[in-house]
Amino acid sequence: MSEKDTENWAWKRIFWLLILLTLGTLGLLLYGLPVVRQLEVFMPMGTCPLARMPLSDNFTGLLRPWARPEVLTCTSWGAPIIWDGIFDPAVAQQQARQKNLTIGLTVFAVGRYLEKYLARFLETAEQHFMVGLRVVYYVFTERPSAVPRVALGQGRQLRVERVDRERRWQDVSMERMRRLHVALSGRLGREANFVFCMDVDQHFSGAFGPEALAESVAQLHAWHYHWPQRLLPFERDARSAAALPFDQGDFYYHAAVFGGSVAALRRLTAHCAQAIRQDRARGVEARWHDESHLNKFFWLQKPAKVLSPEFCWSSEIGMRAEIHRPRLLWATKEYALVRY
Ligand SMILES: *[C@@H]1O[C@H](CO)[C@@H](O)[C@H](O)[C@H]1NC(C)=O
Ligand SMILES: *[C@@H]1O[C@H](CO)[C@@H](O)[C@H](O)[C@H]1NC(C)=O
Repeated sequence: MSEKDTENWAWKRIFWLLILLTLGTLGLLLYGLPVVRQLEVFMPMGTCPLARMPLSDNFTGLLRPWARPEVLTCTSWGAPIIWDGIFDPAVAQQQARQKNLTIGLTVFAVGRYLEKYLARFLETAEQHFMVGLRVVYYVFTERPSAVPRVALGQGRQLRVERVDRERRWQDVSMERMRRLHVALSGRLGREANFVFCMDVDQHFSGAFGPEALAESVAQLHAWHYHWPQRLLPFERDARSAAALPFDQGDFYYHAAVFGGSVAALRRLTAHCAQAIRQDRARGVEARWHDESHLNKFFWLQKPAKVLSPEFCWSSEIGMRAEIHRPRLLWATKEYALVRY
């Protein structure tokens, strides 16, 4: 981009921020929060500096970042942001089959999350997750005998790993990083080439295929992908290992989906588990628990691929024109029921 473009861009952004602020305040006064959520789509996400060039990728073949001009399709460090329409699913499928890949999918189903969400998560994963590839599910739970029997397709297996029950859900989510690290250093790490780690309180609603694969993969958070960097809910308390100064942070990533090669995920989980231990020793807890630490990690080591919110959408926001085909939908939160 030329200097003039950049300047133009900065003005455009300020202009939209002001409009949004006005409309947002008005909306808030008149209708409450949901209206403000609908207005944020007007805030531009930024432009991809590489948008006129085809990006290529070892898993998706040629990407067409210009095919979705209304959204941001690459990051400042050149990683693609995968939106519907910028890749060819058939090419991604063919490349993944040629590489004879095994994909791991880990999910924690602890306490009431097991009965409430696991069966639907697994059943819909059978319909949509990496169909046609070898998949090994790893279910982490304190009650292996309660894991539902789901009919698995050819080349797909399910393993159950026992974990201890933590007292608070925050601890479950933070303990997850340590457990994942152990699993990645053991059988899961030997069995799988690439692994996705997902939250259980969501279900698949569209094809989640090999276009999502990369050395390291982060998920844009459906609630925050239009927000300016300074408003993103990073941990800002310098006492926490997850802290990012106010002028830092690229995107806010959702811990409900992250993935990558076994080696990359071992580094990620080791970093997060260590940072969580350090916080505990200091008596602090990051604002969004393991998600805060994940965001710090991806700030330090940029993800090779970013998934658009189409990959993990919130039904609470409702439909949006720029969200073509949600691949995962998170459940409406019923914290009172499932958290303890
Ligand atoms: C693609 O794969 C090749 C060989 O496996 C590797 O050397 C290269 O770094 C990969 N490129 C990207 C962008 O990951
Ligand atoms: C593909 O991978 C599987 C499991 O890792 C292995 O058993 C099989 O021999 C491989 N097939 C080819 C053609 O390499």
